[in-house]
Amino acid sequence: MKVAIFTDETGWHTRQLQQALRARGAEGRCVDLADCRIDTTAAWHGLVIPGYGRELPDAALVRGIAGGSFEQVTKRLGVLHALRELGVPVYNDARAIERSVDKSMTSLLLHAAGIPTPPTWAMESPAQAQRLVTRESATGHAVVLKPLFGSQGKGLQRVGCIEGVHVPLPPLADYGQLAYLQRFVPALEQPGHDWRVLVIGGRAVTAMRRVSAHWVHNVAQGARCEPALLTPDLAERAQAAAAALDMDYAGIDLIPSPDGALVLEVNGVAAWQGLQRVTRFSIARALVDDLLDRKHASQAREARQA
Ligand SMILES: Nc1ncnc2c1ncn2[C@@H]1O[C@H](COP(=O)(O)OP(=O)(O)O)[C@@H](O)[C@H]1O
Ligand SMILES: [Mg+2]
Repeated sequence: MKVAIFTDETGWHTRQLQQALRARGAEGRCVDLADCRIDTTAAWHGLVIPGYGRELPDAALVRGIAGGSFEQVTKRLGVLHALRELGVPVYNDARAIERSVDKSMTSLLLHAAGIPTPPTWAMESPAQAQRLVTRESATGHAVVLKPLFGSQGKGLQRVGCIEGVHVPLPPLADYGQLAYLQRFVPALEQPGHDWRVLVIGGRAVTAMRRVSAHWVHNVAQGARCEPALLTPDLAERAQAAAAALDMDYAGIDLIPSPDGALVLEVNGVAAWQGLQRVTRFSIARALVDDLLDRKHASQAREARQA
């Protein structure tokens, strides 16, 4: 059993996955999607995955996709789409990754599935966006401006009504000329926190609280990780969010509000080093078990029936 681990960076996560695969008698090989090629003269399937010759891996696990030009990223995602079309289970599938990397699509799908999430807008017109921020501000709300493809809490800004003062929307040049805006959910206590819940194979399996004085609670921004009780409410919301985006596994960000936990974000290529520190079982083992036992097994069953 040969599993391709797609990543542009080897390190703790890929070592954890390789160990977990080895423990199951499988081999994990790290491959950079940037190095994968389409070559219709090389093999019947037209893909070249370095290290696999004319063969394809038995399954693929997506750990990281490097940024690049629109064309490069299209090809990299195309390789993942092609693998699925060729019958190779891809964990998470390209479609799920695309939908979660686009934060506005995530918000829309969460909303349409009836999952509690803060009011969210995405628009290209700076004038329209400015009007929206003014309107929100007038009703006492702050609004978070986020990069559409952001991660690790980078590039977030608060605009609108902040401590009684109106802060207008800045120019959108650093945001690809797109205003992705979400109503700010104020902390219920200080220091504030949010939750990261990990869903694997449809089930919420572990959770942590990310605590920090700053309103951006990412671990990468210095938030402290604390173990969190996986309450039925938290688990159900996280599971519903993962299902709405068709995720094999996902890291769900939720924030406390007077109306219960609101889903902020769904991560389809989630890191878990912080979460592992407060989790008793091996997360890499749980991921690999779910990939091999559920996803690969069901795809193999379908292939036999076809
Ligand atoms: N609407 C919001 N209200 C309050 N805090 C928010 C809001 N949106 C984001 N944050 C804070 O910023 C963090 C990062 O936002 P998120 O949408 O998860 O983007 P990223 O992909 O950078 O993690 C969240 O975990 C949360 O702490
Ligand atoms: Mg996040």
